[in-house]
Amino acid sequence: MRFDFQVKMENVNWSRHWCSLLGCLGVNLLVYFLLVDCSEKTPLSRRILSSNVKDQEFRDVKLYTSHQQVVVDNGLVQVILSRPEGDVLGIKYNGISNLLEDHNERDDRGYWDVVWNQPDGREGIVERMAGTNFTIITDHKDKVELSFSKTWSVSSKGKGGVPLNVDRRYILRRGISGFHTYAIFERLQGWPKVDLGQIRAVFKLKKDKFHYMALSDDKQRIMPTQQDRENSRPLAYPEAVLLTNTTNPKVRGEVDDKYQYSSEVKDNKVHGWISPDPPVGFWIITPSEEFRSAGPTKQELTSHVGPTALSMFMSTHYSGKDLEMKFEEGEAWKKVFGPIFVYLNSVSSENDSQKLWVDAKEQMLVEVDSWPYNFTQSSDFPSVDQRGTVTGQLLVRDGYISKKLIWGGSAYVGLATPGEVGSWQRESKGYQFWTQADNEGRFVIKNVRPGDYNLYAWVPGFIGDYKNDTMVTIKAGWEVKLGALVYEPPRHGPTLWEIGIPDRTASEFYVPDPYPTLSNRLYNNHTEKFRQYGLWDRYTDLYHDQDLIYTINVSDYRKDWFFAHVNRNVNNETYESTTWQIKFELVNANKNGNYTLQLALASASTAEIQVRFNDASAKVAHFSTGLIGRDNAIARHGIHGLYWLYSIDVTSNLFHEGSNTIYLRQSRSGYTFQGVMYDYLRLEGPPGA
Ligand SMILES: *[C@@H]1O[C@H](CO)[C@@H](O)[C@H](O)[C@H]1NC(C)=O
Ligand SMILES: *[C@@H]1O[C@H](CO)[C@@H](O)[C@H](O)[C@H]1NC(C)=O
Ligand SMILES: *[C@@H]1O[C@H](CO)[C@@H](O)[C@H](O)[C@H]1NC(C)=O
Ligand SMILES: *[C@@H]1O[C@H](CO)[C@@H](O)[C@H](O)[C@H]1NC(C)=O
Ligand SMILES: *[C@@H]1O[C@H](CO)[C@@H](O)[C@H](O)[C@H]1NC(C)=O
Ligand SMILES: *[C@@H]1O[C@H](CO)[C@@H](O)[C@H](O)[C@H]1NC(C)=O
Ligand SMILES: *[C@@H]1O[C@H](CO)[C@@H](O)[C@H](O)[C@H]1NC(C)=O
Ligand SMILES: *[C@@H]1O[C@H](CO)[C@@H](O)[C@H](O)[C@H]1NC(C)=O
Ligand SMILES: *[C@@H]1O[C@H](CO)[C@@H](O)[C@H](O)[C@H]1NC(C)=O
Repeated sequence: MRFDFQVKMENVNWSRHWCSLLGCLGVNLLVYFLLVDCSEKTPLSRRILSSNVKDQEFRDVKLYTSHQQVVVDNGLVQVILSRPEGDVLGIKYNGISNLLEDHNERDDRGYWDVVWNQPDGREGIVERMAGTNFTIITDHKDKVELSFSKTWSVSSKGKGGVPLNVDRRYILRRGISGFHTYAIFERLQGWPKVDLGQIRAVFKLKKDKFHYMALSDDKQRIMPTQQDRENSRPLAYPEAVLLTNTTNPKVRGEVDDKYQYSSEVKDNKVHGWISPDPPVGFWIITPSEEFRSAGPTKQELTSHVGPTALSMFMSTHYSGKDLEMKFEEGEAWKKVFGPIFVYLNSVSSENDSQKLWVDAKEQMLVEVDSWPYNFTQSSDFPSVDQRGTVTGQLLVRDGYISKKLIWGGSAYVGLATPGEVGSWQRESKGYQFWTQADNEGRFVIKNVRPGDYNLYAWVPGFIGDYKNDTMVTIKAGWEVKLGALVYEPPRHGPTLWEIGIPDRTASEFYVPDPYPTLSNRLYNNHTEKFRQYGLWDRYTDLYHDQDLIYTINVSDYRKDWFFAHVNRNVNNETYESTTWQIKFELVNANKNGNYTLQLALASASTAEIQVRFNDASAKVAHFSTGLIGRDNAIARHGIHGLYWLYSIDVTSNLFHEGSNTIYLRQSRSGYTFQGVMYDYLRLEGPPGA
């Protein structure tokens, strides 16, 4: 072992010598192969077996630098970075010379990018975060931390790219089978206005090795290739294709769309790819949600055809422009994204490749337990003792359900930037700290960075949002005990009827089968059937001549309430508005006091819901949401986007004894993906009844 290592060291030193020479000539690729070849003979440990391998058996972390690249090696994994840009050029592991696709350009293998809008100018500029300044932060036998930073200056206005300073870090530690990466994004006072639409890290894996993708226990499959997509038939938008001509016949005839693999942030802690030969796993592990945006239910992309593995830090997916980070002229800001962990594992037999997923999940728990990491060198990433804790218990008061206070069981409770009720779902500049309460509504939010926050919550089974108006201030080591907090969800009278479950999704409603020729086999007979392509068009098949009519006490929302209120495809891609009806009987109709219709939406895309009571042709609707929403969750196969709640007063003269009808009209017709998803509807009688 030691001998092999010496041999390797000599070779590396030798090539390092050439490195500087060749670097000047720009013959960088050759050096790269030399580095890779020289360590080929070394039998690397397969993976960390943390419990039975002692620290000293792992090799020192070594750092080699040349003019155009930097190599870090801990005997398990070797990472090659471009200098000074800081892109990952190569990851050598378990006998594979590069897990990344080395046919791609240097800046197209492992990189970070930002999507931004020029103020009053070009929108959607995609810019890679290329460093201009390489600095060795730590060079120690136990750990190497490297910085690749770029700075923006006022003098470069107009030419300097996105007005941000970005310091990207990479950490390789002794005995760790993978590397950590994070970045500090910063704006100084006086800098120009800018909107950011997306921040992410991207890894493009070796095409001929990685075909099997795993996102969760029940979301794993053999994936088509990029070439297969190029030979395919485009569907309603460029991301979705029908695979007509694939190298692997098993995936032929299926739909591929990266949005079918989206995940809520709270469930998106580990995902990645498996190579069969040699059997190796490549995993993106995200141990904390604190640096992601818009709370635990924000949906983001994961892995997709490429083979590509993403770490999404911020995006407008499933929310729209509302979630862009909008910086005013002069606004200063700083945020640390990450660290995330790129974890590599291997087994000796392809037959055991499932174990790679199981092991990746275990490693994810190890990373979660080690949060906040204690090996980062940036003062912008606070250690555990610089953070604080918030505890409390959330209770619900709803006198129409119970005279006693009700436990806020399984409530989602979070700290986010101070703002309006529910503002966390549109917030991305700050950090958010969320947890799920126990059955009795008790919660502990740990590892909160110092700062001022509001406490926000919502409780599955109840409508609306809780916010506590008292500012929560956290300083190093503080434990803030909030005690019992009482949420009073919107409620004006007794329930006359309800449709659905208040859980901020439309998943309990009727989700149709996909067209047999347009399915993704992964989602056949799957709890996330809503991820299938083309379900929006099934409305027209099912309600060809007459729109949906739902009769209280007769209909069943699981079967009779279509999951999305979409337009009808009348002819040749012409879409017309649809009006749904809710029919119900009123006995002892109350003529005193208002009724209330609680209308909770799970998603809206350039839609308007008009509500009419017992008069379908009323010129002016009794209530309208107005034009709302850009979350595009129908087209992206999400079962929700942003949450909207309307408590609509209904004067009693609009209802009468006997049969009544509520008309819900989605009045904006134009294209396929316009519409809403309902979360829950409830009619309440006048107060006190
Ligand atoms: C380069 O980056 C290091 C570490 O972030 C910083 O201390 C140094 O000032 C930077 N140098 C330049 C010229 O920007
Ligand atoms: C299928 O793809 C292969 C490889 O790209 C190509 O050579 C062939 O012409 C394609 N066949 C059809 C029917 O498009
Ligand atoms: C893998 O499984 C196949 C089929 O069951 C078997 O023939 C083969 O021997 C196994 N390989 C190893 C290394 O266990
Ligand atoms: C760092 O954290 C790890 C995991 O939580 C722990 O085992 C280790 O003792 C810590 N090291 C230091 C120096 O605090
Ligand atoms: C807000 O929290 C404080 C405790 O910090 C509590 O006394 C108060 O009742 C809470 N307000 C609401 C509206 O729950
Ligand atoms: C669907 O899944 C259920 C539960 O996992 C299973 O019992 C059933 O056999 C499956 N049906 C089909 C057609 O695959
Ligand atoms: C459908 O619409 C397209 C574009 O508007 C038009 O080119 C085509 O002729 C129409 N087809 C029919 C059958 O009306
Ligand atoms: C539904 O059925 C229940 C039980 O028969 C009855 O009390 C209630 O009035 C009915 N509600 C409506 C709106 O028809
Ligand atoms: C009843 O609803 C009407 C119409 O929205 C509203 O103007 C009125 O204030 C409400 N009355 C009560 C008592 O809430």
